[in-house]
Amino acid sequence: MTLTVDRAALTRNEQLTFRANMGVGRHGWLRLTPAYGVRLVRDRLAGLPAGSIVTDPFSGTGTTPLAAAELGHIGQSVDVNPFLIWLGTAKVSNYSPETLLATADAARAVLADARKHKEDNDLWQPNLFKIEKWWSPGALHALKALRHSIDEHVGPVEDLLEIALCRCLISCSNAAFNHQSMSFNESSGEPVLFDMDDAERTFAAFNTEVVALVESARYDLTGSATIHHGDSRAGVKDLRQADLVLTSPPYVNRMSYIRELRPYMYWLRRLDRASDAGDLDWRAIGGTWGTATSKLNTWTPEVETPVDEAMAKVCERISQDGGKNGPLLANYVHKYHHDMWLHFQAITAQVKPGGGVSYIIGNSTFYKHEVPAHEWYAAMLRELGYAEVNIEVIRKRNSNKALFEYDVTGRRP
Ligand SMILES: C[S@@+](CC[C@H](N)C(=O)[O-])C[C@H]1O[C@@H](n2cnc3c(N)ncnc32)[C@H](O)[C@@H]1O
Repeated sequence: MTLTVDRAALTRNEQLTFRANMGVGRHGWLRLTPAYGVRLVRDRLAGLPAGSIVTDPFSGTGTTPLAAAELGHIGQSVDVNPFLIWLGTAKVSNYSPETLLATADAARAVLADARKHKEDNDLWQPNLFKIEKWWSPGALHALKALRHSIDEHVGPVEDLLEIALCRCLISCSNAAFNHQSMSFNESSGEPVLFDMDDAERTFAAFNTEVVALVESARYDLTGSATIHHGDSRAGVKDLRQADLVLTSPPYVNRMSYIRELRPYMYWLRRLDRASDAGDLDWRAIGGTWGTATSKLNTWTPEVETPVDEAMAKVCERISQDGGKNGPLLANYVHKYHHDMWLHFQAITAQVKPGGGVSYIIGNSTFYKHEVPAHEWYAAMLRELGYAEVNIEVIRKRNSNKALFEYDVTGRRP
């Protein structure tokens, strides 16, 4: 099996055309289940004059800055998670034909080297809890060997190889990544034996991923984008004032991005201990993974918000009806909106006067009590003097009749 890359195509100086990029391309590099769709983002960017500044204060996988750069704008985004800064930066970079040829050559060398390792190798493996649930012994052996060989490379070549490794982790895993939150496939409970075919399938998957990645990386972006590390509850320096803030912030649904990103973060050595995962999640708005949950128990607000009265009524009902978890969940809802209020205050100075904001957000329910985040967002924007504040229903979220996704928009006066 060989790694086949269209070398002639790589050396042609092809500019990104709008049509070429209308497919998924780089947007498909690593999907995060709760990420919003690129079509929605492109729709919201339509009509902006070329060269507009588009900010996403909750970058995630970088959908907004990438879509903005593809359409000739200047994208900029912020995230608390260093792994997502790295991923977003790799997605919005331009890769020269030489770099892509070097990546194809490096991948060939990585595969040849990885195949030489024996089954009982003692190579590094991530400190992921119950790693044997994630991968069969054969697949794990291959992933360790690939990781070891990728370490020989640096710079953009290593970035692309690591993204291919991440994609390979998913395709060879026993975990199902296609649900709202990842889960493990059913197993018979029998011990799984080492199978060299599993290792070979993993090597083949890596090969396929590199070819696809190199192909999608060869189109230059007509605009540009930068991804910043920071906390969107505070002003982020180095950001230019935006013509449009377009984002899908964390939802009020206790979904943990760290939990979803664990496999990638451990294999890419951006996480080594479960306690670090909890610390990182505590810094994220709405984070409740691991130790972040226990910290919520003793959390108290630093500031009042314009929705405190309405929120107190809902939180009281959640607290009463939620049994022993009720007070914790009431605190969760309170802290989430408290943090979003800090965010709305901080971001306002980073929007041009007359510039727009668009927040794609869902409501939620706890013990059948609705948490109308969309209405509370709109109230906070009005409090800050935004004009034309509007709530548009985008779609019904799932079979729960009460759950919808909204676009909350406004214009900075
Ligand atoms: C719903 S995701 C964004 C999805 C993104 N629109 C996409 O398509 O991939 C929310 C993101 O907000 C980030 N986040 C949470 N709290 C933050 C904070 N205080 N400052 C900056 N980013 C934060 C999380 O790490 C997560 O990546």
